Amino acid sequence: MSSRSGKESLPSIKDLDLAGRRLLMRVDFNVPLKAGDGGSMVVADDSRIRAALPTIRYAIEQGAKVILASHCGRPKGKVVPEMSLAPAGGVLAGHLGQDVLLADGPIGDAATKLARDLRDGQVMMLENMRFHAGETKNDDGLSKALAALADVYVNDAFGTAHRAHASTAGVAALIKQKGAGLLMMREVEALGRILNAPKTGFVAVLGGAKVSDKIAVIQNLLNKVEALVIGGAMAYTFLQAQGHDVGNSRVEEAHLVTARDVLSAAKRKGVEVLLPVDHAVATEFSADAPRKVVHEVEIPSGQMALDIGPETQRHYAARLALAKTVFWNGPMGVFEFDAFAEGTRAVANAIANGKAFSVVGGGDSVRAVNESGKADQISHISTGGGASLEFIEGRALPGLVALGHRRHS
Ligand code: 3PG
Repeated sequence: MSSRSGKESLPSIKDLDLAGRRLLMRVDFNVPLKAGDGGSMVVADDSRIRAALPTIRYAIEQGAKVILASHCGRPKGKVVPEMSLAPAGGVLAGHLGQDVLLADGPIGDAATKLARDLRDGQVMMLENMRFHAGETKNDDGLSKALAALADVYVNDAFGTAHRAHASTAGVAALIKQKGAGLLMMREVEALGRILNAPKTGFVAVLGGAKVSDKIAVIQNLLNKVEALVIGGAMAYTFLQAQGHDVGNSRVEEAHLVTARDVLSAAKRKGVEVLLPVDHAVATEFSADAPRKVVHEVEIPSGQMALDIGPETQRHYAARLALAKTVFWNGPMGVFEFDAFAEGTRAVANAIANGKAFSVVGGGDSVRAVNESGKADQISHISTGGGASLEFIEGRALPGLVALGHRRHS
């Protein structure tokens, strides 16, 4: 049986019999870590752990023996103690109010024994999957070792669904009983709704440093949206492509032609493209650089734009107020510099204050929404940055395909 929502269909954990069965659950605990007081690593932001709780709790309630698998960071096939999942396991145990057993080292005899001895409702966690070189190679041997641990497979790691790895793709092919976790289902439903939204009233906001990172999503969105709102450093490649002076702002020279092509395609398709009309600038790329506002499109030489200006903020907010559907990915400026975070915050507020069905993805955009204190006014905050973009590009995500995800036209 398959849960079907709109034009997406995906087998769900709710369709699986879990009682007394060993359940391998892929979660995305790729959480930021920082050195704690005693020098050991601690979780800096547990949003992704909290996002996986409903599925883990559901599996416990159903009486499954839960074996969690995740990656953390990019240890490149080596055991890097600073990237251990132990801190994430500790945080999870706190949320669940029960022990989370951590397998000592990568998959091997100890992990197998721990998995074999699990009791119904107990939870264990494998150590960082990327400590194995085979994980990112979708290695057959590693997939088999994972499959041997369990009877049932659930993938709840939407943030990693765009990777064809052993724990997201290979193992799924080897376990017959499988489905998506509750978070994965919610992500696919919300992003599917965005992908299939009516053009009228659909506004996409894209930011971030590079046009090259967003080109595929822009090309797909040009067929779907009424308006494209552009911010971040990538806006300056577009402004230069239009013949404006951008001073020392970051421009991808190699993508000026791409930007020009996007602008003419938008014109042909009747898509409104909103670009900054004023800017917050500085003479250097630095958190302490004095902030100045340039009240026109042209940027004087020697200055670089690090955020959208106040008039642009008003202009973007007014356009977003008219939207019925909003998809946002990427900051409007250098969000990590407090003096240049205003534009991103303004967009977060505008989306939260609007009435549109809204989906926000990507680290900085999600942080801005959380900091605005209005996260509950956003319809869906995606746990996937790259994964949500690839979904909106219309690409098949290997982690979803492996579960039997289908799109219906
Ligand atoms: C993410 O944080 O986007 C996911 O966990 C995927 O991580 P990766 O980009 O290292 O594959």
